[in-house]
Amino acid sequence: MTQYIPNHVAIIMDGNGRWAKQRNQLRATGHRAGLKAVRKIVTHAAKRDIKVLTLYAFSSENWKRPANEVTALISLFIYALNREVKNLNKNNVRLNIIGDISKFNPNLQNLIIKAQHLTENNTGLILNIAANYGGRWDIVQSAKKIASHALDGKITLQDINEDYFGSVICMNDLPEVELVIRTGGEYRISNFLLWQCAYAELYFTDTLWPDFNQASFDEAINIFNTRERRFGDVLNEDLSC
Ligand code: IPE
Ligand code: IPE
Ligand code: MG
Repeated sequence: MTQYIPNHVAIIMDGNGRWAKQRNQLRATGHRAGLKAVRKIVTHAAKRDIKVLTLYAFSSENWKRPANEVTALISLFIYALNREVKNLNKNNVRLNIIGDISKFNPNLQNLIIKAQHLTENNTGLILNIAANYGGRWDIVQSAKKIASHALDGKITLQDINEDYFGSVICMNDLPEVELVIRTGGEYRISNFLLWQCAYAELYFTDTLWPDFNQASFDEAINIFNTRERRFGDVLNEDLSC
């Protein structure tokens, strides 16, 4: 049977810290190992013809971590942007950062803007990195945009509906998220794409992110293909009962 390849896969890359702990290493070492898994999965997703891959790299709550870990994560992000963007561009990947980047230092903000600009006309995989992203922040910033449209007299109260909201939220120009993968054994969303995941299939695995590989990704796609997606409807074959 031919497989359905989800258009948009989003991943909560969890478990770097535990991976490091198992090896008596620093959490930062786990994050570096996590970056290697990112490289592998980005290449593989493109090969599997996924149109959009969205990776949760840093949540709006991750600032609560000890300062040395936050610094290590931000340095790793800067390192990855400096090192990988050329290669992503060569591979026709379009890179987007989603989240409140105004909280990052100007150097990082600059790198983000340059990377997005460099890759904006690429037609291959769309890679979204969620950095200082929170689903609640996303909903609030959408509500603010809508309020400002209303204050400017561009819309009236009657114009505000799900479609309008959906037209201002992050990734409104991209296909719906169809599959969310969370590694690391926790069964929660941790403030990831709250609006966008309304009808996504959720796949949880105990595999820690640095150990997640091509075969793990393929397994998630296989499981996705066994799911029956009803979107609140009933299936035709059940109507006779
Ligand atoms: C996920 O790994 C990466 C980020 C949140 C940046 P963790 O750092 O949360 O790893 P665990 O959950 O402590 O193992
Ligand atoms: C979610 O992982 C955030 C990212 C993977 C970037 P966390 O490790 O921060 O989530 P919680 O704290 O277990 O909910
Ligand atoms: Mg975690």
